[in-house]
Amino acid sequence: MHSIDQYRDSFLEELNKITVDKEPKNLYEPVTYILNLGGKRLRPILTLMSADIFGADYKKGLSAAMAVEVFHNFSLVHDDIMDDAPLRRGKATVHEKWDLNTGILSGDAMLIEAYRFLESYNGDQFKKLVSLFSTTALQVCEGQQYDVDFETRDDVSIPEYLKMIEYKTAVLVAAAMKMGAVIAETTTENEDLIYDFGKNLGIAFQLQDDYLDAFGNPETFGKQVGGDIIENKKTYLYLKALEQSSAAEQNSLDQLFSIQPTNTDDKVATVKAIFVESKADLATKQAIEEYTNKAFAILDKLVITIDKKEALKQFGLWLMNRKV
Ligand code: IPE
Ligand code: IPE
Ligand code: MG
Ligand code: MG
Ligand code: MG
Repeated sequence: MHSIDQYRDSFLEELNKITVDKEPKNLYEPVTYILNLGGKRLRPILTLMSADIFGADYKKGLSAAMAVEVFHNFSLVHDDIMDDAPLRRGKATVHEKWDLNTGILSGDAMLIEAYRFLESYNGDQFKKLVSLFSTTALQVCEGQQYDVDFETRDDVSIPEYLKMIEYKTAVLVAAAMKMGAVIAETTTENEDLIYDFGKNLGIAFQLQDDYLDAFGNPETFGKQVGGDIIENKKTYLYLKALEQSSAAEQNSLDQLFSIQPTNTDDKVATVKAIFVESKADLATKQAIEEYTNKAFAILDKLVITIDKKEALKQFGLWLMNRKV
């Protein structure tokens, strides 16, 4: 096993190799921009870690890790357009810094580049990786469409919300880990178990993302705090607040989430107060813990050494307690 820092450093070294000057600049500069803005590099780290855990030289996972991270960044560029988001990792989003069309086309190019990283694998492995990647990418689109559809619906249920985040976020975390397992040529059983571990961790991760979107520190969060509230996103916080508040507050929430107010600061402040008053914030924290524990329970079934399980557990705990 290696340290998280080692996986990240190897990944960044690989990333540095691809950032070359290419023409047309307005297509490739935004690609370099977004990929070098940083981020936690969670998904590529998980691919490398998973390859290592199942006995491969983790460096064999570098191309898959690149594919996953470039795909993730593509999805962020398009997501920021869809969510009308001004900030990403503390800097202007691509469509704000350039324009809408640049965001669309540079995003498209990244999606294609992501696939090209898989070309370095052969035969059955290549086929398995591409198939997993395509299934996952389509599910992400489906999740993103549900997320947008829910903005204008007032009857979204918690099971529907959970399905939506499973698709838009968790399946990519799951696939990132399964790719590591495929590269290590481990058993199908291990592939499935690590996929489920990643999926549950991914659900906890998106719940935490929703929590931070409302309650994160604007100085350090890197995204617009309250963005989900402004966009009428039906998050776990919102759905739990509806469930757990008085009729008057339910009305107020319904009302606030059916308009685009001119003063968004007031809307964000009022909604956050209801989230706290209804204890929806605590319910969200509880759900994060629940899904993290579900992920940990899957580790018990994996046939790997204790130190490897412990490494996965530490990573999960770190994710659950993150502030960005
Ligand atoms: C943001 O992902 C999008 C979600 C699925 C919540 P990350 O929080 O992993 O973003 P970066 O890559 O670290 O910036
Ligand atoms: C993002 O969900 C999911 C994908 C990008 C596929 P969010 O819209 O919550 O992600 P952030 O908060 O903008 O990073
Ligand atoms: Mg977004
Ligand atoms: Mg979004
Ligand atoms: Mg979010």
